[in-house]
Amino acid sequence: MTKVTVNIAPFEGQKPGTSGLRKKTRVFMQEHYLEAFVQSVFDAIGGGDGKRFVIGGDGRYFNVQATQTIIRIAAANGAAGVIVGQNGLLSTPAASNLIRQNGTDGGFILSASHNPGGIDEDFGVKFNAANGGPAPEGLTTRIFEASRAINGYHILRADDVDLGQIGEVSLGNMKIEVVDPVASYQVLMEQLFDFDAIRALFAGGFTMRFDAMHAVTGPYATAILQEALGAPEGTVVNAVPSEDFGGGHPDPNPIWAKPLMDLMMSDDAPDLGAASDGDGDRNMIVGRGAYVTPSDSLAMLAANAHLAPGYKDGLAGVARSMPTSGACDKVAEKLGIACFETPTGWKFFGTLLDAGRATLCGEESAGTGSDHVREKDGLWAVLLWLNILAARGLSVAEIQEAHWAEFGRNYYSRHDFEAVPEVEATALVDGIITRIDDLPGKSFAGMAVEKADEFAYRDPIDNTLSEHQGLRIWFQGGARAVLRLSGTGTEGATIRLYLEHYRSDGSIEGHSTAAVLEPLRQAVLELAGFQQHIGRVDPDVIT
Ligand code: G6P
Ligand code: ZN
Repeated sequence: MTKVTVNIAPFEGQKPGTSGLRKKTRVFMQEHYLEAFVQSVFDAIGGGDGKRFVIGGDGRYFNVQATQTIIRIAAANGAAGVIVGQNGLLSTPAASNLIRQNGTDGGFILSASHNPGGIDEDFGVKFNAANGGPAPEGLTTRIFEASRAINGYHILRADDVDLGQIGEVSLGNMKIEVVDPVASYQVLMEQLFDFDAIRALFAGGFTMRFDAMHAVTGPYATAILQEALGAPEGTVVNAVPSEDFGGGHPDPNPIWAKPLMDLMMSDDAPDLGAASDGDGDRNMIVGRGAYVTPSDSLAMLAANAHLAPGYKDGLAGVARSMPTSGACDKVAEKLGIACFETPTGWKFFGTLLDAGRATLCGEESAGTGSDHVREKDGLWAVLLWLNILAARGLSVAEIQEAHWAEFGRNYYSRHDFEAVPEVEATALVDGIITRIDDLPGKSFAGMAVEKADEFAYRDPIDNTLSEHQGLRIWFQGGARAVLRLSGTGTEGATIRLYLEHYRSDGSIEGHSTAAVLEPLRQAVLELAGFQQHIGRVDPDVIT
C-alpha cells in the first residue's frame, strides 16, 4: 500500500450544478476525471487531514467503483475515517442523516438522482457539508476554482475494501466503518412518526403500493413499510436496486411512474400509491383516483404535520422554491408562520433549517422534507402522509378536497422543453429579460401582465445574494408563469415553464388542470415567442 500523487491537467467543466457534478457515466469513467473532482473537493475544504466523511450512492452503474476510488483518495488526503453504506449504498437522506448523527465533516453522495443509470447514461457526485446539506454556493464555487487549478491528486495504491461486510476495517491510517444503510435512518423515522397508528392502519386493511423504481429506496421501504409497519409483502414493488434502474427513468412523476399512476386510476387502486427516485430524495403521492401535485403535497403536509409526533408543537415556518406553487403560502398565512421563497435547489433551504426558521420545505420537482435532515426525503414524505391518513381517518382524495375547499386551489402544471440548443434557449430567456420592465400592462393572447421580474434572492440568514434565478410573470386574475433553464440536464438546455392559476373557489367542478391553465399557456407562448425562438410550442413532458 503506497500513497502516490498523480500529476494531471485540469478537466474542463467540473462545475457543480443544482445538485452536484452530473455528467455522462463515460465522462466520469475517463482516466483521472473522478479523481480530479474529488481532489478538488478536498482542496476546496482545506484538505482532508483528520477529517471524517460519509460515502455512499444510489447503486447506479459505477457506484461501487467510484466508492472505492473516493475511499482511496480520502485515505491519501489524510482522512481519519469514513462511514460507508454496505455495498456502497446510501439514499441521499440517509447519507445526510449519517453526516449529522456522526458529526462528520461532510459526505460524498454518488448519484444523478432521477436520471437514468448505466454506462451510456448519467452519473454524479454531490458533496454535502457538515450540516448534512448540499454544498452551499460559496463552497461549490471554491470546488470549481480548485478543479481549474488542480495539478495532481493523492491516492493510495491498495486493494479494494470489502464493502459487503458490515463492520470496521482500516486502510492505511484511515478507519472504514461499513454500516447498514437503513438502520439509523429507520430509528429517525420511528422518532418522528406514530408507528403504532400506522401499523394499526395497515392492520385494519389499508392498502398501498410503493414503487421503488429499481432504485435505492427498495431496501428502505421494504424494511420500514413491510417489516416494521406490517404492510403486506408485495406492497413495495421494484424493490431491488439495479445498476440501470431496470432500464427505466427513476423519476417519481405521472410520466415515469406510469404503471403506478395507471393502477391508482383503475378500479383496483389501493388506498395510497407512492414512489421515490434514484437516490430516494424525491416522492410522488397519489390517492385512489387522486394525484397530489408536489406543490399541493407540501401545503397539505404543512397543514397537517402537527398530527405526527415529530411536529406536534407546530412548525417554525415553511419554505418553498420559487417555481413551486403558492399553495403552502396560504397555509402559512393561516397558521401565522413565515413562508420563504427560495431559488430552485435544496441547498437554499439549508440556512433556514439550520437557523430554525423553517421546519418543512418543498419543491415542485417532487421534493419535500423537514429539519430532520438537510436533504429532501422521499420515504419521510410517504410516512408523514401515512401518519396523517391514520390520524384523520380520511382518504387522500377527501383530504385534498377539504384542503382546496378551505384554502382555495392552485391549479399547477410544469411544461418541459428538452434538448433545446443552448443558444436558442438563452435567446428565448434573454428576449424576455430585455423587455421585462415593459411587460406590465401589456396583453398576450388576451391576458394582461400585472408584474414581471427576474428572481433574485438574498438569503435572510447569511445575506448571500443569488441572482438570475428565473423569470416570474404575474397575470391578471391570480395567474403566474415562471420560466427558467434547468440546472440538472446533461444534454443541451431544458426550458421549464411553470404555469399556475389560483382559484379561491376551491376545485372547479368539471375543470381539468389543463383546461384552467390553457389561457395562461397561450399567453406565455406568445409573450416568450416559443415558436420563433425554438421552433415549437409543445413540450416534451408535462407534469
Ligand atoms: C435537483 C435538486 C432540487 C431541484 C431540482 C431542480 O433535483 O435536488 O432541489 O429542485 O434539481 O432541477 P432543475 O432541472 O429544474 O434545475
Ligand atoms: Zn433525487
